[in-house]
Amino acid sequence: MTERFGFTLKATDGKARTGVIHTPRGEIRTPAFMPVGTAATVKAMLPGSVRETGADILLGNTYHLMLRPGAERIARLGGLHRFMNWERPILTDSGGFQVMSLASLRKLTEEGVRFSSHIDGSKHMLSPERSMEIQKLLGSDIVMCFDECPALPATDEVVAKSMRLSMRWAQRSRDAFGDRPGHALFGIMQGGVTRDLREESAKALVEIGFDGYAVGGLAVGEGQEAMFDVLDYAPGFLPEDKPRYLMGVGKPDDIVGAVERGIDMMDCVLPSRSGRTGQAWTRRGQVNLRNARHQDDPRPLDEDCTCPACRGYSRAYLHHVLRAQEIIASMLLTWHNLHYYQELMQGLRDAIAEGRLAAFVAGFHAQRAGGDI
Ligand code: GUN
Ligand code: ZN
Repeated sequence: MTERFGFTLKATDGKARTGVIHTPRGEIRTPAFMPVGTAATVKAMLPGSVRETGADILLGNTYHLMLRPGAERIARLGGLHRFMNWERPILTDSGGFQVMSLASLRKLTEEGVRFSSHIDGSKHMLSPERSMEIQKLLGSDIVMCFDECPALPATDEVVAKSMRLSMRWAQRSRDAFGDRPGHALFGIMQGGVTRDLREESAKALVEIGFDGYAVGGLAVGEGQEAMFDVLDYAPGFLPEDKPRYLMGVGKPDDIVGAVERGIDMMDCVLPSRSGRTGQAWTRRGQVNLRNARHQDDPRPLDEDCTCPACRGYSRAYLHHVLRAQEIIASMLLTWHNLHYYQELMQGLRDAIAEGRLAAFVAGFHAQRAGGDI
């Protein structure tokens, strides 16, 4: 294991890339999907089970953990890895995005954001400096800059003003982060769906210099077509030798499209959250196991899947435990969905390494178009 953070690009196929991110806590194979462990847990999963699905890294949230149980408390208890019993890499989001979507009574200034907790109404402040301090207390391996992400649609004027604030915050994040060998700081590109603003944002970040670069401000209501339009050019504004992370994406077809356009890392609550409501993602498409048509079906959810839900249980059983609101329903469907997502990432990595991504993507879409599942 290396003691430094680094990225090795192994192969490319078109704009798509495969490689390895090196960290003192282990390697991250890219393209990587990061399951979301917002509150120091990937809901309904033991950490060992998350690892069994193939995850190399988890995502944690500054916003949630600072409010409950508190970053200083986690630090006293040995840091987030020890606290949640996940020894591999953790990336933490910086809190700005979650404050804007979850907190109440927000007041945004040049300094940062003052807000009231969505849990108990208590008052808090997040700034680039405080976000860096919290992510250090947590022991995060990949720290994200403190940024602001406007909801779309918004005027160019609003998007530009917000992006320039995020770039000033990126410089303050860089200054506050300092030099921490083995830990990485990623910048976050903003600029909405406007090419000139994306380019300006990328130039500002590259000028500051980061260990990796995120594409932020997407999957916020603009739709897949507009997102892909941005991804057709935005990754090209970023250095080739650093990882590129698309934040908060997405559905399986979003992931495939993003990887085709040169994205290396992604995260999304979708596989875990939708698992808890009975939505399953499979190579043949999406299935809602709450639907009554499954109640007498002895077949597994996906006969080709090797996850515990598909090896051990029928659709009828999964349907039953969902309807009965049994905890095992969340456990099994979250496991299946995370397994499917990680298998998709492995398929993408192998296809890129072997120069057959176009055929892999064609197969991916053809299987989903197959009709009733
Ligand atoms: N998660 C999804 N999008 C974003 C973004 O633009 N910024 C941050 N910090 N987190 C995100
Ligand atoms: Zn399965």
